[in-house]
Amino acid sequence: MSKFLITGNARLSGSIAVGGAKNSALKIIPAAILSDQPITISNLPRIEDIDRSLELLVDLGAQVERQEHQVIITAAKLQKHELSPTFANKLRASIMFVGPLLARYGRARFPHPGGCVIGAGTRPIDLFLAGWQAMGAEIKFNHGFYELKAKRLRGCDFFFTTVSVTGTESMILSAVLADGKTILKNCAMEPEIVALADYLNAQGAQISGAGSPTIIIEGCDSLMAGEFIVPPDRIETGTFAIMAAATNSEITITACRPAEIEILLNIFKKIGITFTTTENQLIIHKHHGLIACDIKTHEYPGLATDLQSPYTVLMTQAQGASLIHETIYDRRLLFTDMLTQMGANIVMCDPHRVVVNGQTKLTGHKLTSPDLRAGIAMVIAGLIADGQTEIDNIYQIDRGYENIDQRLRALGAKIERID
Ligand code: EPZ
Repeated sequence: MSKFLITGNARLSGSIAVGGAKNSALKIIPAAILSDQPITISNLPRIEDIDRSLELLVDLGAQVERQEHQVIITAAKLQKHELSPTFANKLRASIMFVGPLLARYGRARFPHPGGCVIGAGTRPIDLFLAGWQAMGAEIKFNHGFYELKAKRLRGCDFFFTTVSVTGTESMILSAVLADGKTILKNCAMEPEIVALADYLNAQGAQISGAGSPTIIIEGCDSLMAGEFIVPPDRIETGTFAIMAAATNSEITITACRPAEIEILLNIFKKIGITFTTTENQLIIHKHHGLIACDIKTHEYPGLATDLQSPYTVLMTQAQGASLIHETIYDRRLLFTDMLTQMGANIVMCDPHRVVVNGQTKLTGHKLTSPDLRAGIAMVIAGLIADGQTEIDNIYQIDRGYENIDQRLRALGAKIERID
């Protein structure tokens, strides 16, 4: 099993470019099934989750031609409509293929998606199933597989009882070819949802309201396919900004959209971090000490749960007590045990809340990365700790951060990948 070896007390400098957004690319790849024309996706990050998603598409029978950060997908005629457990069990986002299969071929068969340890139990999919049911799909569960059938999905009114990013995106991908109008309420408003809707509209879909809580989709009979440029990953942007602050380094973050992490930048102002922004660049300046600040994760435009783990590490270096309230997922605070082993002073109040008492010196330790965001948070902890930190299970980090060790070495970090 590969691992990272990190030498602490890092002082970083220079600039780092942000890659294409994983959580945008993981929805546009399944969208290729909606058309029999080829789709060209560029600025595609080279990360494990994308590899798994493309493998799944090839397994279904699509043609995939991939160069560096670009892929051309032709999904004109798929041979099968079942998601193989080999791939579906490694990728929670495999469920994004089901809506397009139902919309194009009227059937889909898939196992409960795996691939991510965070979230209640096995990450519920009740909203997905309720949505397909509302659109007229017949749903059975046999021998560990969900089996869905629908002559043609029907437009419906659907209210999300929980705001769900992939739930919202799945309903968009299911409704674009349905018969009639679909009205979705209490939708997620992430920028990746807007990018998906904009792409589909450019291919002939009729979607309005993406980025707001109510989305209306007029079903159409067929869709073209074209070019999609994956937008910058706002979670990478926020992660690198937090990394700069935690190591008290001046770093320029390029090819990014600072406007999409406005909430984090507002928090930065409260904790004593100064920065300079242009439309697609963010420079984090050195600070003279950090002040603790409570946070509460929230759906967009609130503070992304995917930035909570790195922020929690940052708060170990801030003066005072900060309450970290993780409202979205169970188990996303479990990684704080490992920070405590490194010398952090963190009290677990309940599964959704911890109090971090800073400032504490961290000491290098042997760690295991439970999920990708906790994994990158451990990299940050290793960079600021005294001594050496070893992180294993780094597949979890490679799921979401392309070539992260190489990119951090370019900033002066002492991080080695040991295969
Ligand atoms: C997306 O996950 C992202 N993944 C997550 O990023 C991100 O943390 C999350 O949105 C929140 O922003 C992708 O886009 C591939 P949710 P998603 O459905 O859509 C509950 C990362 O690190 N829920 O918005 O799966 C769920 O349990 C990943 O890149 C149901 O109850 O998250 C959670 O508590 C991690 N029933 C809440 O909704 C359902 O059917 C919000 O989750 C679906 C979800």
